[in-house]
Amino acid sequence: MVCLGNICRSPIAEGVMRHKIEQYQLSWNVDSAGTESMHVGQAPHQYSQKVCKVKGIDISTQKARQISLEDLEKYDKIYAMADDVFDDILRIGKDSPHMKKVDYFLNELKSGSYGSVPDPWYGDEEAFLPVYEMIDETCEAIVKKYNKKKHV
Ligand code: 4NP
Repeated sequence: MVCLGNICRSPIAEGVMRHKIEQYQLSWNVDSAGTESMHVGQAPHQYSQKVCKVKGIDISTQKARQISLEDLEKYDKIYAMADDVFDDILRIGKDSPHMKKVDYFLNELKSGSYGSVPDPWYGDEEAFLPVYEMIDETCEAIVKKYNKKKHV
């Protein structure tokens, strides 16, 4: 799950997907990262933490980090949460043989939509709930699509 700062959107996506992995007992690994380094080492934004906590998901121990070429190798799917993030990943991984793993996160909610999860960084607390809901709906769609156990 990749956004710009790994402080607002992708930490929510990591927490929500980790919660679903436990709920549906999947043998998946999820992590998140940012394309930028400015918040590396920081905990998620206080409102990202809060919107998750209200839903019973604790993301307080997550730490922001920057995406690396090893991530492109390690993970089967790399989800860009927005179009500028997608472009940044293309730039970072331009010589990587793994670039076909990179997709728009919201394409899993609506195929071919190439949409962006709105960046709540400049918004107030209310901006974080619709972002959470969009992320939750998309993570649920991802589980439905790729869960081989099919008991969802
Ligand atoms: P994120 O949000 O990419 O969802 O973590 C942002 C966080 C910080 C900044 C921009 C977006 N920033 O400009 O510092």
